[in-house]
Amino acid sequence: MKQELEEIRAAAIAALASAATEDAVEDVRVNYLGRKGRLTGVLRGMRDVSPDERPLMGALVNRIKDEVESAIAEALTKARAIERSRRVESERIDVSVPGRRAILGHAHPLTQVTRELVDVFVGLGFSVAEGPEIEDDYHNFEALNFPHDHPARDMQDTLFVEGGWVMRTHTSPVQIRVMESEQPPFMVIATGATYRHDSDATHSPMFHQIEGFMVDRGVTFADLKGVLTRAVRELFGADRAVRLRPSFFPFTEPSAELDIGCFGCGGRGGACRLCKGTGWIEVLGSGMIDPNVFRAVGYDPEEYSGFAFGIGIERIAMLKYQIDDIRRFFANDLRFLKQF
Ligand code: PHE
Repeated sequence: MKQELEEIRAAAIAALASAATEDAVEDVRVNYLGRKGRLTGVLRGMRDVSPDERPLMGALVNRIKDEVESAIAEALTKARAIERSRRVESERIDVSVPGRRAILGHAHPLTQVTRELVDVFVGLGFSVAEGPEIEDDYHNFEALNFPHDHPARDMQDTLFVEGGWVMRTHTSPVQIRVMESEQPPFMVIATGATYRHDSDATHSPMFHQIEGFMVDRGVTFADLKGVLTRAVRELFGADRAVRLRPSFFPFTEPSAELDIGCFGCGGRGGACRLCKGTGWIEVLGSGMIDPNVFRAVGYDPEEYSGFAFGIGIERIAMLKYQIDDIRRFFANDLRFLKQF
């Protein structure tokens, strides 16, 4: 029996020596110390040992059991350490490897210019409204004092949609929508896409506008001039020359286009191509809201007055960045877009 115990011990130690994982160590434990384990079997055999041999044999069995147990504990620690370092190795991160640069896009130049314009007017106290891009004739024309079959409608190169709708030709219908749902006083801007049947280097079938209007008691042309001069100078420089030139729109009376001193030639004109020699560049249309527009929305033109203006966003962006062809904005050529 003594010899058998020594054998078991040697076999257990040998088995542990090649047990590299926690599972392998556990297998050894079950094989030797488990319910059906070899050492457990010997311990059970103790009852057949004669009483005078029992103390000695008992001590021997216990010593060997302790030895195997501590060898198992040791092997377990070793196996865990091996597994841990294997895991650390496989999860290792080389922090010195150069990272992959995340490619960040940026806002489209027209979005940038729109935000800049909106910021200027919001800074002056305007709030922001929206309107639909597909409009009815009433909001796009009728309520804006375009008489039926009036040649001014041709001026707008309207794109018609089935069912009597039109692609809005300007953002001015938002004036009507706001006035229908609100009572003065208010200062509102509205921006978005507008559409006309027109396409060349300076005209795109889809383009963008920002509309602004203010309605209250006692609003005068001086308010229009003050607000627009201030806004334009924020955009194009504090000492930019500004002039208002008489014009015509069905929904404003009087109407004026606003010109700024040409930055191509500093206002001198001559052979300047940017301003075609005039020294001035047109940037927006404006005017005092026509009494007929107020009547259409149920305001009393004797009580209220107001001004309105409309700015072509592509036009401002083209001036600002000296872009010669409006179609570049919509071609989605990254070589162009990345410059902004
Ligand atoms: N809606 C006009 C256009 O598109 C611009 C404008 C707006 C003029 C408001 C006067 C007042 O040409």
